[in-house]
Amino acid sequence: MKPLAHARGSVKIELMAAPLSVVILAAGLGTRMKSRKAKVLHRVGGMCLLEHVVEAALGLTAADQIVAVIGHQAEDVKQELAPRGIRFQLQTEQHGTGHALLQCAGMRGLESGRVMVLYGDSPLLRSTTLAALLGAHEATGPAATLVTTVLEDARGYGRIIMDSDGSVAAIVEEKAATAEQKKIREINSGLYVFEAAQLWHRLATLPPNPASGEVYLTDMAEALRRDGLRVLPFRAEDPTEILGINNRVELAEVDQILRLRKCRELMLAGVTIEKPETVVIDRQVQVGLDTVIEPFTRLLGRTKIGEDCRVHSFSVLEDATLEDKAAVGPFARLRPGAYLETGAHMGNFVELKKTRLGAGSKAMHLTYLGDSTIGSKVNIGAGTITCNYDGKGKYPTKIGSGAFVGSHSTLVAPVEVGEGSYIAAGSVVTEAVPPDALAIARSHQTNKEGWASKRRAKK
Ligand code: UD1
Ligand code: CA
Repeated sequence: MKPLAHARGSVKIELMAAPLSVVILAAGLGTRMKSRKAKVLHRVGGMCLLEHVVEAALGLTAADQIVAVIGHQAEDVKQELAPRGIRFQLQTEQHGTGHALLQCAGMRGLESGRVMVLYGDSPLLRSTTLAALLGAHEATGPAATLVTTVLEDARGYGRIIMDSDGSVAAIVEEKAATAEQKKIREINSGLYVFEAAQLWHRLATLPPNPASGEVYLTDMAEALRRDGLRVLPFRAEDPTEILGINNRVELAEVDQILRLRKCRELMLAGVTIEKPETVVIDRQVQVGLDTVIEPFTRLLGRTKIGEDCRVHSFSVLEDATLEDKAAVGPFARLRPGAYLETGAHMGNFVELKKTRLGAGSKAMHLTYLGDSTIGSKVNIGAGTITCNYDGKGKYPTKIGSGAFVGSHSTLVAPVEVGEGSYIAAGSVVTEAVPPDALAIARSHQTNKEGWASKRRAKK
């Protein structure tokens, strides 16, 4: 419970805000996904569906606790969400959304105040919408408020039956709707706030739907109304925000919306994105001012890009870091742990894994650098390869600042290349190179004068 301090003149009145619990229903298998994996573990915008919903709930500062109701592949879901610090409640058998929420009856902290319910398959929800819903509920004081929206194509959603007084009379699921009801375009988004005092005892006595045998949370609207209590609609401004995912077509559609939303957010914050419809950027990626992202790039995971950088086309960055003024690609691959210091450049067909490229260093063509630490102002010639793996273990390579690695060099790890040293092109380096030395590790060239013309003459 959060104390609210209201200062009126010199008198300070302490009010206790009603506690708010957020419950996310995420136990279903999602039959329509046709998958071995639980629906809420499928990914869009770089996170699993449930993570997006949890993220929205975490952004609601008024929330005192967040509970996810899980069932299908509960252990996997828990593992994925563990770092978020939320509570879990098990629904061992899935008997509908009403039955899922009922699993939380009697849980500590949920018996009083308000209970906000979200569905784990609606990843486009924004925290601001949750806050607006709560605000509307508090202002009007009904037994429940639910978010509705008007869709061009309402197929698959529960339809809202409105009363003449502007309150919700009932929610009719698509399967049970009459031809006339199917024409209604105002739909149930699956986002509700209930007064706990009016919720739990009614939920416990909701009869299962005769056709499916499931207990529908949507039947709460009619149940409250029957007892003379008001259920009010709260219309979402952005209808796309409440889209639920039931199959893989919708998964791709929602992913596209999330991608464009992320690009928009970055562009408005000062990042140039060329042809944003071709770019894939995960939700947690950060990009600094005046950086340019070229078409057909993928910025994944927890990638962090500084200011004034350039990501050329067809580059893939996953959990990578670029300090300011760094440039990568075209066709660069930065695997987890790739780190470019200020002004470092890597060019086409260069791959980095767990490697730090120092300030102003360059690896411009056809190169693999793994488990390496590279100082500043190093030149890595075309075709350089670190041999970091011997079939069993991985070994480090260290290259000191100012070193020059000639083209087509092979650095057999573990190995150290001293500061300011030179490696002759085509060398296979297996021993440490002292600072400022020249290492030549290749066979001598032999020229046989006149050999070619003699051969031709024989023919
Ligand atoms: C539900 C609503 C519908 C609404 C739509 C919005 C009901 C009966 N219908 O339909 O009115 O328009 O969402 O997207 O609520 N779940 C459980 N346990 C269960 C069943 C479901 O945890 O036993 C979870 C699912 O994991 C899912 C969520 O509840 O995250 C919604 O279930 P789903 O089967 O997708 O409901 P819809 O048919 O989409
Ligand atoms: Ca759904």
